[in-house]
Amino acid sequence: GLVNTKEMFADAMKNGYAVPAYNFNNLEQIQAIIQACAETKSPVILQVSKGARNYANATILRYLAVGAVEYAKELGCSIPIALHLDHGDSYELCVDCIEKGFSSVMIDGSHLPYEENVALTKKVVDYAHQFDVTVEGELGVLAGIEDEVQSEHSHYTDPDQVEDFVKRTGVDSLAISIGTSHGAYKFKLKPGESVPPLRFDILEECEKRLPNFPIVLHGASSVLPEYVELINKYGGKMENAVGVPEDQLRKAAKSAVCKINIDSDGRLAFTAKVRETLATQPSEFDPRKYLGNARSELVKAYKAKNENVLGSANRV
Ligand code: G3H
Ligand code: 13P
Ligand code: NA
Ligand code: ZN
Repeated sequence: GLVNTKEMFADAMKNGYAVPAYNFNNLEQIQAIIQACAETKSPVILQVSKGARNYANATILRYLAVGAVEYAKELGCSIPIALHLDHGDSYELCVDCIEKGFSSVMIDGSHLPYEENVALTKKVVDYAHQFDVTVEGELGVLAGIEDEVQSEHSHYTDPDQVEDFVKRTGVDSLAISIGTSHGAYKFKLKPGESVPPLRFDILEECEKRLPNFPIVLHGASSVLPEYVELINKYGGKMENAVGVPEDQLRKAAKSAVCKINIDSDGRLAFTAKVRETLATQPSEFDPRKYLGNARSELVKAYKAKNENVLGSANRV
């Protein structure tokens, strides 16, 4: 069945890699994630956001994930699979997911004042741990795509808070803010400017305060130019899309970062192939054709992540 993240993170910590946390909202995405992870022998965290629940229904997503465990076995590799709530924003939402069979939840109190974040996170942990469900908390705020001023990114995680937060809440993992952000437009670059490095100094400070404790990176898509170009070639309009360079993620994966969240890269690969198929095969009207092509591309993209970036391949 589905497993929580405890053993996955222990192994990732011991061996210096990161478990992929891929978001899914539909059948083709979860099929691609499972095929890629089974074929590369990688553990995986299937993530469901509040938006995904609203789009597809939490019960349906739960049974897709339960089915995915069997599907991986059929593909010849019984990989550990967790079903995780991404960015839970209330106690009630976390409880609902736990009642629906999720094996892990995130309570994101990062926008709250510190003491309120502690109280809310502890409340979720106390409930979740009764059912052996693991909990991810967050300290520090990721820059939003709407943020105008880049240097006002200044909600990096304060390393002086992490030990107190983990002790008082009992969380199983902690998401931190070191310069990544959500979406496909992570950095506003002036002409000729390159992507600023992540704040590895903050990560290292957090590792010192929390020895052997699993750290999580959100907003970790790389926004590969080949997909952005394909989207734009076939009628899309994505200008100045930019992500976290793969080298930075490789480095992070070797550290106490045990979970790396990727959603946008999957969306880009999927959209690129749907656009290409519809544009180059205009008489096709069977959704299996364009969704199937998109799914195949996703498999490739996820395998490349596991093998070449996260180091999660061949860990099962
Ligand atoms: O962190 C956000 C994830 O990429 C999920 O996005 O809320 O649009 O489903 P969503
Ligand atoms: P990206 O938008 O960089 O894929 O981040 C996804 C994420 O953090 C989900 O929680
Ligand atoms: Na790691
Ligand atoms: Zn996130």
